Parts: sequence; structure tokens; C-alpha cells
Amino acid sequence: MAIEIEQPSSSVELSKIAVSDTHGEDSPYFAGWKAYDENPYDESSNPSGVIQMGLAENQVSFDLVEEYLEQHPEASNLGSKGFRENALFQDYHGLLSFRKAMASFMEQIRGGRAKFDPSRIVLTAGATAANELLTFILADPGDALLVPTPYYPGFDRDLRWRTGVNIVPIHCDSSNSFQITPQALEAAYNEAETMNMKVRGVLITNPSNPLGATIQTVVLQQILDFVTEKNIHLVSDEIYSGSAFSSSEFVSIAEILEAQQYKNSERVHIVYSLSKDLGLPGFRVGTVYSYNDKVVTTARRMSSFTLISSQTQQLLASMLSDKEFTENYIKTNRERLRKRYDMIIEGLKSAGIESLKGNAGLFCWMNLGPFLDTPTREGELAIWNSMMYEVRLNISPGSSCQCSEPGWFRVCFANMSEQTLEVALKRIHNFMEQRERRH
Ligand SMILES: Cc1ncc(COP(=O)(O)O)c(C=O)c1O
Repeated sequence: MAIEIEQPSSSVELSKIAVSDTHGEDSPYFAGWKAYDENPYDESSNPSGVIQMGLAENQVSFDLVEEYLEQHPEASNLGSKGFRENALFQDYHGLLSFRKAMASFMEQIRGGRAKFDPSRIVLTAGATAANELLTFILADPGDALLVPTPYYPGFDRDLRWRTGVNIVPIHCDSSNSFQITPQALEAAYNEAETMNMKVRGVLITNPSNPLGATIQTVVLQQILDFVTEKNIHLVSDEIYSGSAFSSSEFVSIAEILEAQQYKNSERVHIVYSLSKDLGLPGFRVGTVYSYNDKVVTTARRMSSFTLISSQTQQLLASMLSDKEFTENYIKTNRERLRKRYDMIIEGLKSAGIESLKGNAGLFCWMNLGPFLDTPTREGELAIWNSMMYEVRLNISPGSSCQCSEPGWFRVCFANMSEQTLEVALKRIHNFMEQRERRH
């Protein structure tokens, strides 16, 4: 039983960081999670509950990981020698065997078109820690990072809360499928300068969360040219790289650098994690891969705050160095995600809803813009309310991703069974039919 401690309102003071609201948790993105927790859907015990479509989790290939673990009990079995080694290992360089396996996995995902040096891999507790750690290294409090919108709502917390750094949006819109343009980059840069903020870098997510689309090579080159001209950094969060429906559809910034013999590479840093591609967010396994020696050294020192348990490193070193497993996993996972994507896009289409054309990710970017009563943030939240409390689907409104165009929603499809996805699509279909009758 919890111990009740009286908390008078005039309690002892806490730090500025503790009381600030830059954590961003007061948005519908997090409110939806709460509504789901209070009334979660279950096929047999709660068929009218809330279906969680706001969580970018990948469960479609769990069976493959489970099969590996069954066939390789030695990978997770510590034994007495293993126990002692693991109990004492806390070197912030991490296990070399794991860094090598991680580098090779990252190469495989990119179809072997980019090389990664294990000595540049800095291990962190997930991409959350990697993004914050890089922000601490690249920017000072009050400085700005430019981030294309719509963006992952967690960035408001990860990049801003404890670092004191600002996010200045690079506004993208549906007129060109939300692609980043040189004009939008320049406008964001100028906006930051007008607010007297020093711009330290651009942070992109490729493939994009929430758009579920990869960034084209020509756009990546433009972004690289821009950061070079301004003498600032480029962080490429490639956490969804393995979820591109085929390896050739995704181009990593690492490939662009390799093609130009690593010219200007000292300003480029890649963030990666196994949370999405292997569906292991609970294992907390991420990395900063920087081409800048000073950043690597500093990130490694700072990673002391967010190390990965030695036991987890040991298990994943075995799993990721098994080429037969990784090749099959990457291929099968991509095929299954594409199948799910096709299923949801078709289902939405037959309900009269269009989505952005995607080729990656665990979600689609659905357009309810034509159905808003008013083309405003309020109009968007009104339809989100109906979805949440009448249809009982937790989807994320574009405004929680700082999207400047009302009516777009991120809908996740890989954190549930195909049957549950069918139920969700049926509910959307019914909702649209009822709406049609009312109008
Ligand atoms: C773009 C992006 N970066 C980082 C993260 C955080 O990932 P992790 O679980 O590895 O901390 C997420 C999770 O949704 C994400 O979508």
C-alpha cells in the first residue's frame, strides 16, 4: 500500500526545470494515451474499449525474435562466469562485440551502401537519450535547433526540457507532400535570428515520423548544403531506417557523406535505436554515431548518465551478429509493414479518407482536413475528440506534431494484431457513414 504523505500547496520549491512545462506532456498526444490506459480495448474482455493507434510500436515481427531466443538460450543465459562478467562491466565504451554487431546491423539496413565504424558508436539508453545528449553537446541554453514540421511530439521534451534549447519549426505543408525546401529552411533560420536565437543545427527524422515517408536524396543534399553554408550541425534521426518498405527506398545521410568522401562530415551526427526496427523500446538501446571526434568523445563521457545494461548488450551482441537471423528479420519485417500499410490505406480509402503516400514507418498520415467543421486547430481537436471518445480510437492530431495545416492525423498500425486493425477500420467506416448522414 502507498504511504500517504500530506502535500500542502505551499510546498518546498523545486528547480526551474522541474516546474517548467517544456516537457510538452500537456498535449492531446499524451491525453490520448491516458484515455487508452483508462479503458483499453480487448477483443474478448473489453470489445468497446479504446484502440491504441497513437503508439509507434512495432509488434509485427515479435515471433521472429522469440524464435531466435528459443533456439539460442545461451544468448540470454548468464551462467556463473557470465554473471560475474556482466555484474562488473560498466565501461562507457560498451562491449566491443555489441558495438561491432550494431555497426554491422546499421550497414545491413542500408543495403550495405554505407559503412559504420564501431569505434564511433556511442551507446545510449534509446534514441530519447541520444537526441538529448546531442542537443547538450551542440547547443547552449537559449540557442535554437531547426526541426521540420510535423515532428515527433516527444522532441518537445527531448530537445528542449532539460537543455533549455529552443525548437524553431521549419514549416512544411501538403502542397509538396510536406517536403523540406531550401526556402523553408531559410525562413526558419531567419525567424530564429529575428528572435535573437543562435541557430546551432537542423534535426531531421528520416524516414519521417509522423509522415511515414523517406526523404529524397536531392532534399538531403540541399539540407547538407544549407548546414554547410551556415556552418551549423545536422542531426539525422534514423530510428525508422529499418521500417522503410524496401532498403532502396531509404537513403541515409551516411550514404551521401560516403559518396562525397566524407567532405563536411564533422558537422553530421546520426541517431539510431532498436526501439522501432526490432520493436524493443523496453530494452532501451540507442546510439549516437558522429563523424566528429570531439562529439564522439564528449558523447561517450555523457553517456555515463544513460548506459545500456551489460546484460542487454550481451544478448543483442549475439542476436545481431547472427547474419542469418538479421537478414531474414530485416526482409520479413519490411514485407509485413508494407502489408499492414496497404491494409490501412485501402481501409481508409474505402471509408472516403485520403492519406499521404508513404513508403516507411509504423504509421500513416491521414487527412481529415476535408471533414473539419472549421479549418482551424479547434476544428481539428473537435474531430479528434469525436475519434477519441465516440469512435474510441486514440490517434494523434497533427497539431501535437506542430503541423501548420489543420486536419492531419498520425495513425499507427504496427502495435496491434490484424484483427484489431480491422475492428479499428470498421469503426472509422461507421463513423464516416454516420457523419455523411448527418451532413
Ligand atoms: C523520431 C523519434 N525519435 C526518437 C524516439 C524515441 O525512441 P527511443 O524509444 O529509442 O527512445 C521516437 C519514438 O517514438 C521517435 O519517433
